[in-house]
This record gives sequence, C-alpha cells and structure tokens, in this order.
Amino acid sequence: MKTLNVDLGDRSYPIFIGQEILSDQSLVSPYVSGKQVVIVTNETIAPLYLNKILTLFKNYQCKTVILPDGEIYKTYEGILPIIDCLMQNKFDRQVTLVALGGGVVGDMTGYAAAIYRRGVNFIQIPTTLLAQVDSSVGGKTGVNHPLGKNMIGAFHQPKCVIADTHTLNTLDDRQLSAGLAEVIKYALINSADFFTWLTHNMDALKQRDSIALSYAIEFSCQDKATIVAADEKEAGQRALLNLGHTFGHAIETGLGYGNCLHGEAVSIGMVMAADLSVRQGWIKPLVQQQIMTLLQSANLPIEVPIINNTRLSIEQFDELMAGDKKVLDGQLHLVLLKALGSSFITNNFDKEKLKQTLSAFVTL
Ligand code: NAD
Ligand code: GLY
Repeated sequence: MKTLNVDLGDRSYPIFIGQEILSDQSLVSPYVSGKQVVIVTNETIAPLYLNKILTLFKNYQCKTVILPDGEIYKTYEGILPIIDCLMQNKFDRQVTLVALGGGVVGDMTGYAAAIYRRGVNFIQIPTTLLAQVDSSVGGKTGVNHPLGKNMIGAFHQPKCVIADTHTLNTLDDRQLSAGLAEVIKYALINSADFFTWLTHNMDALKQRDSIALSYAIEFSCQDKATIVAADEKEAGQRALLNLGHTFGHAIETGLGYGNCLHGEAVSIGMVMAADLSVRQGWIKPLVQQQIMTLLQSANLPIEVPIINNTRLSIEQFDELMAGDKKVLDGQLHLVLLKALGSSFITNNFDKEKLKQTLSAFVTL
C-alpha cells in the first residue's frame, strides 16, 4: 500500500492507495471521532461493496443511505435522504459520513458533511478511477443546478481517502475511460514525461493492469495533493485542474446531466482548449494532434456529441460558459496550453478565436 499526504496544516490527511485494503480496520479507526457512522452509497455500488464496508466499520453504530444512481440525482434535493438519516437518528457533531462510490456519491456526501450541523467529518472511499485520481481528493463538494454544473457547494476536506484499486475491476469500460480523461489532464497541465508514460502504457491501463493503474493513480493524486496544498480554495494555480472543464461543463449541462459523462466532456473540453491554444499560436497543431491521439487511444470522445438529435449551438456554449466559476468581473478565464505539459490560466485570448473554436466544434 502507498500512502500520500495532503498537507493542509491541522486539516492534513492521508490518501491510502492499494489492492484489497478495505478489510483493514486499523486504517479507518484513527479517522472516526465518535461512535456514529453513516455510509452513503448508491444502488449500483451497494450490492458490490456495502457488506465489505459495513464489516470495516463493524465497531461503530452504522446507518446506511442508498441513493439512486446517476448524475441527474446530484441535486440539492438529492442530498436530503442523507440529511434526513442524520436528523432521524439524532446524530451529533461527532458523526462520520463515509462516501462509498464514484464522484457523484463523493461530492454529495461531502456536501452533506459540510452542511450538517455546520460541518462534520467524512471519509472518502472512491470506487471509480475518476474518483480515485481526482474527485475524492481536495475537498470540493457539491451538487449541480439545472443552469450550471457543481454550482452549489463547499470546500470541505475529508479525514482520509482510501482508494482500493481492486474495486476498479467491476467498473465498466466506458467509466474506466472517463477516469482516464482526468489522468491525461494531469499530463497536459504539467508533465510531458507523464504524457509520454501514458502513450506507452495506455493498453496496460485499459486492460486494468494493476501496476500501471497504481502508478497512474499515485502520480495523479500526488500532483493533485501538491496543487491543493498550495492553493486549497482555488485562488490561483488550482484552477489549472480545470483544464477542459469550462467547455466540458457547458457540454454536460447543455446536453442534460448524465448524457455525456463528466470524463468524456472533459476529454472534448481539453481538445477544445488545445484547439484555441493552436489558434492563439501558443502550441503547434502537431501537439493538438498528439493530445487527440492519446485521448482516442483511451477510447474517449474528441467531438461534441449529438444527443437526441440535438447539437449544442454557439449561443448555448456562450450562455453556459458565461456562468462558469472562472468568470471574474464578467471576464471568462480559460486554462490553455503553452506546450505539452504546460498550462496557464488567462483571460487574455482573442474572443474571435474562441468563436472560431466553438464554431469548429459545433459544425464538425
Ligand atoms: P459516478 O459517480 O456517476 O460513477 C460512475 C458510475 O459507475 C455510476 O453508475 C456508479 O454507480 C458506478 N460505479 C462506481 N463505482 C463502481 C464500481 N467499483 N464498480 C461498478 N460500478 C461502479 O461518476 P464519476 O465519474 O466517478 O464521477 C463524476 C462526478 O465527479 C461528476 O459529478 C463530477 O462533477 C464530479 N467530480 C468532482 C470533482 C471534485 O473535485 N469534487 C472532480 C472531478 C469530478
Ligand atoms: N477537479 C478540480 C479540482 O479539484 O480543483
């Protein structure tokens, strides 16, 4: 097992990464403050892993909340079953919430933990690749609004993260690929060497080779832990983690939550960011081509899909991107590339070129 640390002073916490580590009770006991535990999961994950997690927490007074499965349930109302369970059982401020699942369960449980009694402890047990490399680390919690992705939320750090790579064996191929989009993101934002490693190891990753997967998860978590430790509340460099997300969130919201997976939307968004970077003259077309080739080798989309015969229009993109969290004083900021493995955040791009990028992707 590998242990990484997110260094945030008295709110620092470990990320445990390993195979079949969900039976080790000594791993969790230091991170549960009282006797009360609420395990939150969903109807897909419960039959697979809930019994294991109930055994892991067998020395505590455990309750379980099983949510419906899907991004469409990641809403304000969607977290009410968690709050209802906490209230009905009169759980106090020492209660620990446990998020067992992917990014949807993790974001919702973390947000419930952030607001119940103005903040209680929670533990992340991520079971998708996306959650193991990204969403379980860093304390962004929240839910979607019909007009914008993740628009309601709070920064609330977990007490620990336990990523058991064995759980990835039950994940379907499409979800594995969605997680690979976030892994590729780390390469694009700051590591050309990791990009090269990914090009050589993509087949092993898709075949779920445990050594390759562990390395990718460790690299991603270390990168994210370093960025979060330096800029927890996204005053600066943490925004780099949003490469492709301004375009991606517009795609997810515009096409209806759940129709294009988060990782798939990020994949397309990263290609759009690369496209605009080419138009600005900051990277060569060859770099965009290398990025598209790697994403395609991970079985990820590089074009905006048409859902139910509907294609997003430039006007819809404009409207949705204007509501992005990186809009400051009415100015849209984007994460763009200046090389493979080098990104920056800027509002200093030609708005006409942005229009050209949008136009290229809505008329493909
Ligand atoms: P998800 O949580 O919807 O999980 C994907 C699917 O896999 C679901 O159907 C789920 O039930 C199923 N599943 C989960 N684990 C499984 C397993 N081990 N075996 C079989 N099936 C399993 O999607 P996701 O990709 O994990 O997360 C996407 C969400 O994460 C989005 O809402 C996104 O906004 C959010 N996110 C948050 C952050 C953050 O920093 N908080 C970062 C990135 C993404
Ligand atoms: N996924 C972006 C972040 O955690 O900041």
